[in-house]
Amino acid sequence: MGGACSYPTTTLPSSRTVIVTGANTGIGYETAKAVAQMGARVIVACRSEQRAKEAIKKMQEEHAKESKNTALQENDRDQSSSDQLLVEYMHLDLSSLKSTMDFVEAFKQTGHPLHVLVCNAGIAFANQTLTDDGYESHFQVNYLSHLLLVLNLLPLMKMSGPDVRVVFVSSLMETWQRKLNIENIQGQQSYSSVTCYSSSKLFMIMAMYYLHNHFSSKEVTFCALHPGVVSTEIARRLNQDYTLFKFGLRVSEALGLAKSPKEGAVTTINCAVNPELAGVSGVYYINCKAAQPSKLARNEEEQEKLWNYSIECLKGFVAESVLLDLGLSGSSEVKATE
Ligand SMILES: NC(=O)c1ccc[n+]([C@@H]2O[C@H](COP(=O)([O-])OP(=O)(O)OC[C@H]3O[C@@H](n4cnc5c(N)ncnc54)[C@H](OP(=O)(O)O)[C@@H]3O)[C@@H](O)[C@H]2O)c1
Repeated sequence: MGGACSYPTTTLPSSRTVIVTGANTGIGYETAKAVAQMGARVIVACRSEQRAKEAIKKMQEEHAKESKNTALQENDRDQSSSDQLLVEYMHLDLSSLKSTMDFVEAFKQTGHPLHVLVCNAGIAFANQTLTDDGYESHFQVNYLSHLLLVLNLLPLMKMSGPDVRVVFVSSLMETWQRKLNIENIQGQQSYSSVTCYSSSKLFMIMAMYYLHNHFSSKEVTFCALHPGVVSTEIARRLNQDYTLFKFGLRVSEALGLAKSPKEGAVTTINCAVNPELAGVSGVYYINCKAAQPSKLARNEEEQEKLWNYSIECLKGFVAESVLLDLGLSGSSEVKATE
């Protein structure tokens, strides 16, 4: 991704299919819209049908307006402002392993190939809550369910190549964690929403490296990124305990340092579709440039520990045969749901 960090100018065939989780707002919305405008089929994987459908409507309206303006500027009468983007909603609630599996099955039923999976959805700074599966919410929504998605979609992705990508949207806050403490991995011993959020983002990078190092097919690439400080709901949802962050965000916004969602989506979009990144795997990006995440994120022993713990959590949801087929080994007790 040499040079400036800007939207890639590329066109994509409609046969290219991209899933973006949490695409109804913020960075996910801008990613889905931009990739659809390049021509690909985009699945917006969201927990609220209403919010997703409103977002799709908004995308279509913005696209019609933008293409009309472009046509006017270029004096191109043939450019139709009514061209519809290929964007579809599919239900996905990452706080539920069952919903995640239902999404996988529903997606497979569509018969579409899958070229890019953007693991973008996330929650931050939530009060301590457990999901129906019994996992801490940041851990499951941001990390564990995304891993489940990846594991169950990889067999299909492997057959959809070449140039198939998995993109993990992480955060600079991953650097806030100094060690992996399995005993307190979900805040079981002492809960802090900041720790749980930053850990979940660290785990996404660790899983990215683990998959990159162990997945047998070279057709599929894995990367992770930090989008910068972006003015979105997630950034505003800081609770009262974190007034310092809130203050920091307000100052950043006032000084124009915080990115708009459109600016904040640039690195994600490049990772998802920039042709220069075809075949590039195992890289972490900040502002479209390869960067070093924390030492902990890069520690292979710790990655292995996290991997084994995660696979144990997903027991019953990922078949051992899938793991073996992927060239990945997990706990021998993992069994298929079928
Ligand atoms: N904004 C920043 O400064 C910043 C910095 C670093 C990293 N990031 C990362 O960037 C990613 C996108 O965040 P954003 O800033 O665009 O935040 P956002 O505007 O709050 O968007 C978050 C998205 O995640 C979805 N989501 C939340 N819980 C979900 C669930 N259980 N199942 C499915 N989807 C769910 C939300 O859906 P609803 O609308 O239904 O809630 C929404 O679509 C996140 O992973 C975040 O950690 C953001």
